[in-house]
Amino acid sequence: MTETKREPLLKVEGLKQYFKVNKKFTVKAVDDVSFEIYPGETYGLVGESGSGKSTIGRSCIRLYKPTDGKITFEGMDCSGKLSKADEKKLRVDMQMIFQDPMECLNPRKKVSDIIGQGLDIHHMYKSFDDRNDKIAEILEKVGLTPEHATRYPHQFSGGQRQRVGIARALVMNPKLIIADECISALDVSIQAQVVNLMKDIQQETQTAYLFIAHDLSMVKYISDRIGVLHLGHLVETGTTEEIFENPVHPYTKSLISAIPQPNPCVEKNRTSLHYDYETSGIDYNKGILRKVEGTHFVRSTEEEFDSWVLH
Ligand SMILES: Nc1ncnc2c1ncn2[C@@H]1O[C@H](COP(=O)(O)OP(=O)(O)O)[C@@H](O)[C@H]1O
Ligand SMILES: [Mg+2]
Repeated sequence: MTETKREPLLKVEGLKQYFKVNKKFTVKAVDDVSFEIYPGETYGLVGESGSGKSTIGRSCIRLYKPTDGKITFEGMDCSGKLSKADEKKLRVDMQMIFQDPMECLNPRKKVSDIIGQGLDIHHMYKSFDDRNDKIAEILEKVGLTPEHATRYPHQFSGGQRQRVGIARALVMNPKLIIADECISALDVSIQAQVVNLMKDIQQETQTAYLFIAHDLSMVKYISDRIGVLHLGHLVETGTTEEIFENPVHPYTKSLISAIPQPNPCVEKNRTSLHYDYETSGIDYNKGILRKVEGTHFVRSTEEEFDSWVLH
């Protein structure tokens, strides 16, 4: 689906996102990352927890102002100040689906109001009936029924809630959906259903995805191209085929070796490649490594970070 001649929909150039923690320490969450997403394609971003995936997603959607670098969406520079019209365009054309649908869906709101929120904010309907028709249509598209509109998030299973999350993004008819670990919290069988649903929707709507995940198993099925993130650096990027047929970076190789094989005979003989930060000989950036009370942390996860800074 990649057409390199076309203009990229999203262009990330030399993105740096640093968080100053205190006078002495700055977390370099994302360091000099560049990639492009073309209209209608899926770019998979993989890397272990704490590698900077969510930070990239959040920077793209302007939750953070980049420390350095440039993000261009539909030809507009969205890393700087935006006009009201451009801001609105961005809020409509770029949507996000989050990991835990229970936490990001307001438990006190009916599904119709959760899905309709974006439509309400941006006045994207002619009448109340038109609004409800749009919601019913989108519910059907994600495999739910119009009757689900009057229910509350807790009345759904995890997989169904994620469908509501997808519907909420989709109803805006976006050009890009950033899906941040949107299937990680689901059972494996449900993961496959949701990934298939997302693929079908893409066929129909031509929306592009930035599909973020911590392992490669599902990314393989949905991505046209993949970027491998490690310690805030994009260590390798290529088409899905290139990454799987000919991985170059040892970290990519170790991620591929971690994918379980469905064939028990193959699985029995599968060995995982260990990737050792210490002996890999790759010094991404001095200043990333830190020691806390004798323990070696390469990069703190959000939880580690919270407990470390707040307590
Ligand atoms: N707002 C923040 N302030 C300080 N550090 C942060 C902030 N957000 C993320 N980090 C740190 O940046 C790194 C990357 O985090 P994140 O993007 O959430 O990784 P991932 O999504 O790959 O798990 C982690 O070390 C995390 O602790
Ligand atoms: Mg994350």
